Amino acid sequence: MSQRFSALEENLKAHGQSHLLACYHELNELQQRALLDQLSQIDFAALEKLIEDYVRNRPAVCIPEDLSPAPYYRHDPKGPGGYDAADYRRVGEDLIRRGKVAAFTVAGGQGTRLGWSGPKGTYPATVVTGKPLFRWFAEQILATERKYGVTIPWYIMTSPMNHEATRAFFQDNNNFSLERKNIFMFPQGVLPSIETATGKLLLADRHRLAVNPDGHGGSIRALHECGAIEDMVGRGIEHISYFQIDNPLVKAVDPLFVGLHAAADDSSGEMSSKMLPKITPEEKLGVFCRSEGKTLVIEYSDLPEDLMYARDERGHLRFLSGSIAIHLLSVGFVQRLTADAHHFALPYHRADKKVPYYDTDQRRVVEPSELNSVKLETFVFDAIPLADSSIIYETSRVEEFGPIKNAEGVDSPATSHQLQSDRAGAWLETVGLEVPRDDEGRVNARIEISPLIALESGDLASAVDLPERIEPGSEIVIQPPRKQMFR
Ligand code: UD1
Repeated sequence: MSQRFSALEENLKAHGQSHLLACYHELNELQQRALLDQLSQIDFAALEKLIEDYVRNRPAVCIPEDLSPAPYYRHDPKGPGGYDAADYRRVGEDLIRRGKVAAFTVAGGQGTRLGWSGPKGTYPATVVTGKPLFRWFAEQILATERKYGVTIPWYIMTSPMNHEATRAFFQDNNNFSLERKNIFMFPQGVLPSIETATGKLLLADRHRLAVNPDGHGGSIRALHECGAIEDMVGRGIEHISYFQIDNPLVKAVDPLFVGLHAAADDSSGEMSSKMLPKITPEEKLGVFCRSEGKTLVIEYSDLPEDLMYARDERGHLRFLSGSIAIHLLSVGFVQRLTADAHHFALPYHRADKKVPYYDTDQRRVVEPSELNSVKLETFVFDAIPLADSSIIYETSRVEEFGPIKNAEGVDSPATSHQLQSDRAGAWLETVGLEVPRDDEGRVNARIEISPLIALESGDLASAVDLPERIEPGSEIVIQPPRKQMFR
């Protein structure tokens, strides 16, 4: 161990990070080992370049000169640029039925904005029964398995900070009746938190670096490194249905989207995305664009104002296409990107954060009152331009976007609950029920339909025991009897 210590000490000195070992001799053996292990995993030479480019300097956002809005498949297949939705849906259903599609949830984020201390997937999200997000998606996966008579393996990316808590939650809930062998959970990578003023790495404690998850872009490398891709290949999986844990309305596996991604003429079948037209120029959605024949997303915070507010000749927002972080990736695409895993990297994005740190001079943990640290992350949508040809499909806001990100206001539990009821109400209207609505047309009742009853409105036609009436302001839960729900 003393040899390892000496080698590291020299390396840290060469890179101006000696403070990380300042308390080493005060640690017990276990702590010393933990610190050496953590530090030996870091490539300090590479990190020094990142610190120079992203911390000491603020990277300029590069907006390509030829930027134009990205084309997309419209939600209404009969409109201009129409397509045979029924045919693509058949292709998608066939791929699902043949066991070619897996579900993939990224759930490694820290949920700070929501103020929920556990993994976000444990948050009670549904409008009436308050089912946690993980349970809600598990019901979708179980329902998809039953509908298509197939196994849908579920890959879940956690982070080292919430991995154990996520595993325990699944175990305590009997894996929500899914087969344990079909759930593959793996933690994403982390990056050190870097002090803005000095470029020095921060310690969380005397024997531990302060780190942050490396962004959902880290999922591509993590899928490869944690053996998930190998597992998929073994199961014959070809396509990965990617979604974020924070949106309970997302369709975990959508046959039409799968079909378009796999079979549309202009899709290389490598990476496809869903979009929604932005409601306001300022709406916080990344925007789909085109440059040099490639599709790309420009994050909302990076979109220059002149582009954000630009309108076309009909007065519509020119950069209208908002990314709601729903993608399909092919297994082959992830394999191609990670073939040389050591050199594969998506671009980094910088975020300034307030991070508590162990001050080696004062020998105590300091809670900073101001932003003191840089967090570097990569974003999965930066992989889109690496695909040969990537398509976008317009989904419907009522159908698929009701995220829970903030404790209050926009994208909060309250707004998501209303959207969940709006969707459930719209589905019930398709089978002839009268649903109370307010003056603005929003559903005036709290309605929850379990995915085990319906994954989409069309499934309601065969559902039994639907309510006969819905009173304004009432609460309605439509779900199977308990013994049919869970094994
Ligand atoms: C994200 C998208 C934005 C999109 C919006 C739609 C980014 C940077 N932006 O915004 O373009 O329009 O969603 O809802 O993603 N996560 C991890 N590991 C991480 C970081 C995040 O698994 O290291 C997961 C989180 O658990 C969550 C999701 O990624 O499920 C979203 O992350 P978040 O940082 O909250 O992105 P948003 O700002 O909401």
